Amino acid sequence: MTIRTVIVYPDEILRKPNKTITVFDDKLKELADDMFETMYENEGIGLAGPQIAENKKIVVIDIPDDDGSQGNNKVVLINPEIVSKDGELIESEEGCLSVPGYKDKVQRYERVSVKYQDLDGKEQHFDNVDGLLAICLQHEIDHLHGKVFVDMLSRLKRERLINKLKKHGTASED
Ligand code: NI
Repeated sequence: MTIRTVIVYPDEILRKPNKTITVFDDKLKELADDMFETMYENEGIGLAGPQIAENKKIVVIDIPDDDGSQGNNKVVLINPEIVSKDGELIESEEGCLSVPGYKDKVQRYERVSVKYQDLDGKEQHFDNVDGLLAICLQHEIDHLHGKVFVDMLSRLKRERLINKLKKHGTASED
């Protein structure tokens, strides 16, 4: 397993098209392992292929348990698609490993259904899930469409953020 470099916003790699995965082999399993390793190293709960310069439709997610520990809810989603979203639009604070040190409130649908393939190519789905998993699924699948959560912020906020990231390499300090 290898910890990979996380691509930082506004790098164009995050905007490139992401390929549908058709080969389900050991290399794909290694990629998923690298993604988990990279995600845990950076204390994340989700990571999408383009964030490590793998422009492919792959996402890993691991929602922490109530005590904050991870490892029990690992899921790899290959070629995931949102098939429905409904309920209220809920605002919550998000962060992203590609936008280090920055958090802000954005709106997401309350519930989603997602279909995807597992590492063996078998069709799987999440039906009407809510809570943090629903938010995370929407956030990560957005990455596969070249979208980053900060795209939903005002232009002024985005410009200030980009300036900070350019100056400091991190948005955590002023
Ligand atoms: Ni993200």
